[in-house]
Amino acid sequence: MLNWDEYNQEESKAPPSANVNKEPSPPPTQEVTPEASQAQEGDGPENYSSKTIEEGTRAEKAREALKNLDEKAGIEELDGMGGRVEVDQKMMINCKADLNQLVPFKYDWAWQKYLDGSANHWMPQEINMTNDIVLWKSEDGLTEDERTIVKRNLGFFSTADSLVANNLVLAIYRLITNPECRQYILRQSLEEAIHTHAYQYCIESLGMDEGEIFNMYREIPSVARKASWGLKYTQDISDPDFKTGTDETDKQLLKNLIAFYCVLEGIFFYCGFSQILSMGRRNKMTGTSEQFQYILRDESMHVNFGIDVINQIKIENPHLWDEEMKAEAAQMILEGTELEILYARDTMPRGVLGMNAAMMEEYLKFIANRRLTQIGLEEEFKGVGNPFPWMSEIIDLRKEKNFFETRVTEYQVGGALNWE
Ligand SMILES: [Fe+2]
Ligand SMILES: [Fe+2]
Repeated sequence: MLNWDEYNQEESKAPPSANVNKEPSPPPTQEVTPEASQAQEGDGPENYSSKTIEEGTRAEKAREALKNLDEKAGIEELDGMGGRVEVDQKMMINCKADLNQLVPFKYDWAWQKYLDGSANHWMPQEINMTNDIVLWKSEDGLTEDERTIVKRNLGFFSTADSLVANNLVLAIYRLITNPECRQYILRQSLEEAIHTHAYQYCIESLGMDEGEIFNMYREIPSVARKASWGLKYTQDISDPDFKTGTDETDKQLLKNLIAFYCVLEGIFFYCGFSQILSMGRRNKMTGTSEQFQYILRDESMHVNFGIDVINQIKIENPHLWDEEMKAEAAQMILEGTELEILYARDTMPRGVLGMNAAMMEEYLKFIANRRLTQIGLEEEFKGVGNPFPWMSEIIDLRKEKNFFETRVTEYQVGGALNWE
């Protein structure tokens, strides 16, 4: 981390012409009059005399409006939140302390995840899709079963990530009353937008029928069932009038968190991810597979964050985590596992890519056990192993490992600005 001593040293080391922000120089077409050049040389406040600036009526109207500003209006609301925030006042849900104050942190893990997520930033256009386009367009590049897998997964994920993003922005963000968690939720929301962009980028690059792919969640039963299972848990809490604060509504929120973090992101993504990544391991659709690698890395952090939030809510509100709620949580995870197994059978009627539906079933049961134990419940499936150990390696993929070798374009950050 940079400290002030280093900062001052850096400043003095920099040559006078150094331009760290790489901002382009202003166009050299402006004529510099002697007066203007004088003003630039001695530009300190002591040499600056006010000029006559004409203004329109809108500026005057704005100044008038500010004279009537009720400064107490916002302050009264903040006073109701109890003034300066102490760490002990911070709560995951139903917190009355001021949510505008990020620090002092209570949940350091949430802030750390925000930093880690930001350090993993990537964009879909950085990944080279040329080989995928050639393979997809060639007559005999992929088998029919492999083509079905690519299409079904792009169909499911292009919708699922939008469902997750909408749930986050329209419900979870409002109902989680902690600023450091909200900071991560904002980061996650951006990542979900990037994931939807990545699927759209693959669909467009491969010249697929967009109507067919984007409507699969309505038209293909194994895709539709997963989408509607998730939607069921978000209907009530995304109502703008929904409030937590009673056992019933707090439990509703907890159920939504389990549905989205443990099942939608924690189970429903895993069959498709392992299918596409297995394709990449066989040197097929390597660009699409690389997009999915980065998405999976983000998703595993989303799941870990969600599980930490769920467990923290349980610690702070032990009365919510009663036997009935535990049974419901297990039921949800097992329903999700069953739907994902059906999806695996539908997308893999035969063995393909060195995997088959039975192997996938074992893998999904292995994942389900993990989700159950992560929220403090007992494993359901005894004696299952992980038939795809390479998935764990990919989840742990670090950006530095191969990211920059494959990037093909630069971000449009400075370049997109117009410096007129
Ligand atoms: Fe996502
Ligand atoms: Fe996610």
